Amino acid sequence: MGRSEVLKVRPEILVMQPFMKPIEAKFDAAYVVHRLYGVKDREALLAEVAERIKGVVTGGALGLPRDLMDRLPRLEVVAINGIGTDAVDLTKARERGIRVATTPNVLTDDVADMAMGLILATSRQLCTGDRFVRSGQWLKGNLPLARKVTGKRLGVLGLGKVGRAIAKRAEAFNMSIAYTDIRSFDDVSYTFVPTLKDLANESDILVVAAAGGPQSQGIVNSDVLNALGSDGILINVGRGSIVDEPALIAALTGGRLGGAGLDVFNDEPRVPEALWKLDNVVLQPHQASATIETRIAMGELILANLSAHFAGKPLPTAVV
Ligand code: 8YV
Repeated sequence: MGRSEVLKVRPEILVMQPFMKPIEAKFDAAYVVHRLYGVKDREALLAEVAERIKGVVTGGALGLPRDLMDRLPRLEVVAINGIGTDAVDLTKARERGIRVATTPNVLTDDVADMAMGLILATSRQLCTGDRFVRSGQWLKGNLPLARKVTGKRLGVLGLGKVGRAIAKRAEAFNMSIAYTDIRSFDDVSYTFVPTLKDLANESDILVVAAAGGPQSQGIVNSDVLNALGSDGILINVGRGSIVDEPALIAALTGGRLGGAGLDVFNDEPRVPEALWKLDNVVLQPHQASATIETRIAMGELILANLSAHFAGKPLPTAVV
């Protein structure tokens, strides 16, 4: 093979979930793309290509299962379409010298917008009201009164970029803002509350904006939900794993929690049916970063990370 032919060899990548058409087209132009989703025989595909895969493109919640990482001996880079790294074994990636990149910043506003949307939808019964009109129930009477949003006490679990963007929006709603995190931050005027239970106790609305992973697994438990109380509202735009889902269902059905607005779940896309039936719950199919503008920006950032890697340059948004 001559030098020019060597230069033409496109790295082979494994794409774990669909992307927008313009992004897919750019993947195809630069790489030999193997798509693991929607394929009839996953095993056959892996048996054929696993040895040659140098890059994996995946979602934040989907990540890269450990056994699949083990099956890719030539893997060099994992590009995550999101900010969550909880579904990729970073320790193992480090050990093997595999680089990992995420798509920070570009999705912050969308996720914060979704949190505000869920706060408004849950407190003001927007989805219930919509169903009420569509089903003709308005002809028979009025919808029960909702809860006010402006001026409420907001608790933020996780004051990272997303948590801060939510707090900034909440300021415009004249909310008093408190937060908990692994430490307090000097550059904000919001009140730091060291324990999650105390934060819940002092909040009307508790928003989960933390990262998933073993450190946050199930920390929104029945104690925290009881502290939030029968007039309190839980919003989750972080990870489903952070909330003890059976405890949440028990609190909602037992009237110990006022309501919940949820974009993320423990076992997506399987959402417990007990939640479907509750009118004080607003459910979203993990849509917080799912806008055309943001998904294009995320896709472009993945492409930038992949091309930097294969050009031997530092990754623009590396986590490992
Ligand atoms: C995406 C996410 O919806 O940022 C994350 O970690 O979970 C979301 O932004 C997900 O990665 C889908 O690709």
